[in-house]
Amino acid sequence: MCRVTEQLLDALRAAVGPTHVLTDADLRATYETDWTRRWHGTALAVVRPASTEEVALVLRACAQAKAPVIPQGGNTGLVGGSVPREGGDAAPVVLSTLRLRDLEPIDVLAGEVTVGAGATLAAVQAHARDAGLEVGVDLGARDSATIGGMIATNAGGLHVLRHGSMRAQLLGIEAVLADGGVVRRLPGMVKDNTGYHLPSMLAGSEGTLAVITRAHLRLVPRKARRAVALLGIAGTAAAVEVASAVRRTLPELLAAELFFDNGLEVVLRHVGAEPPFRQRHPAYLLLEADGDADPTDRLAAAVEAASGVDDAVLASDEEGRRRIWRLREAHTESINAEGIPHKVDVALPLARLAAFINHVPEVVDAAYPGALTYQYGHVCEGNMHLGVIGPPPDDESVDDAVLRLTIEMGGSVSAEHGIGAAKVDWLEADRGAADVAAMRAIKRALDPGWILNPGVLLRP
Ligand code: FAD
Ligand code: MLT
Ligand code: ZN
Repeated sequence: MCRVTEQLLDALRAAVGPTHVLTDADLRATYETDWTRRWHGTALAVVRPASTEEVALVLRACAQAKAPVIPQGGNTGLVGGSVPREGGDAAPVVLSTLRLRDLEPIDVLAGEVTVGAGATLAAVQAHARDAGLEVGVDLGARDSATIGGMIATNAGGLHVLRHGSMRAQLLGIEAVLADGGVVRRLPGMVKDNTGYHLPSMLAGSEGTLAVITRAHLRLVPRKARRAVALLGIAGTAAAVEVASAVRRTLPELLAAELFFDNGLEVVLRHVGAEPPFRQRHPAYLLLEADGDADPTDRLAAAVEAASGVDDAVLASDEEGRRRIWRLREAHTESINAEGIPHKVDVALPLARLAAFINHVPEVVDAAYPGALTYQYGHVCEGNMHLGVIGPPPDDESVDDAVLRLTIEMGGSVSAEHGIGAAKVDWLEADRGAADVAAMRAIKRALDPGWILNPGVLLRP
């Protein structure tokens, strides 16, 4: 081990205490491979600071040693941005935020809260619910995904149609820059026009500009009652129409999720559940509504008024709702169990979504004959997820074909998961050279040594 590396490890141990600098391969392992198993590499060490001051000491030491740093929260990201990559020049330090999990008291008057970046979404949800409030964003990885990771990826999830993505929840932030300097706008205000809005800029920055240490979030009212409907529909275009019609007529709509028969089949096999209908349907739409009064009748009426629904089940009790939601939420883990997936997360203008979905199987098959494609997603935002099983992890032919189709059809190559390491090569085709040059200028200004998550979002 060279002298600079030894000095760095000594400085890291002095910063966070020796027990929180993991260098043993067995202890590092879970921090070095991502959730999909497609992305992995070797870290010099995993460092687990417990305070903003400790994060600053870690970054100062890494900047001095010119050591790359990968911020990591719950490691549920799906674009390879949270783990070391193979082939980097120097083994990076993984900076785990999991010990930054403080939950400050809820500000009930304003409906807001400040939390540590390493707090899981589930922990913040439970905290907010104790005060009769709710976090505006919800997603299937809630038990592990952290608030810092969700801000860094500008996570979307299941309730975007009502409350927006993570950026829309974020009022204030505290973060440590690459040189160890701390920027802090806490608690932050709903109305705050004091120049560049750093919380907004750090939302979606994927660990490339700063390590987020605390965040101040707006909360939303928690409604007492929910109802869920699962609909069987004859085709993709009809399913998009039904979702759009219900959204127009039902202000209580909270979620609208689309999936297809091949995905449902994999889920039923993986979780060992019974089919929801006696007969199979090409497309399924899950709709959820909430309210202070039971929204079941209003949801049922909105569904009945929409044409194109062939089958429907409704549930307003907790167990029934959970059973229906499981059919949608278990897509990710069920497809993961079929093999190492290529995950593609895109957004299309809603008017083109059905044409895109229907064209995708042909495009995937031309790129990698025999590959299996599962599509599902958040229909009102035109956000489709593809899980493709077949191509080896480093074969990008399917990713390339689908992302090019997305760009040709006027879509975005990343709807909610970020660019990560997976989509760096498609960023410029989507955003254009001028946008990417501006992003690079911001990166150079805030991280001149390019130590924060190099290779993610922008090529060094
Ligand atoms: P990580 O995976 O640890 O990191 C993700 C990125 O953020 C990395 O680039 C990392 O460097 C950076 N980062 C992490 N913490 C910080 C920090 N404190 N400061 C700076 N940078 C940081 N995503 C959605 O948007 N919508 C969904 O519906 C959704 N559902 C999911 C369901 C499942 C089952 C799974 C496995 C994933 C899902 N995801 C979803 C993806 C993932 O959960 C989100 O991207 C989440 O925001 C990542 O949080 P994390 O704490 O796990 O971050
Ligand atoms: C989802 O909506 O289920 C997630 O974003 C995760 C995935 O793409 O599998
Ligand atoms: Zn999603």
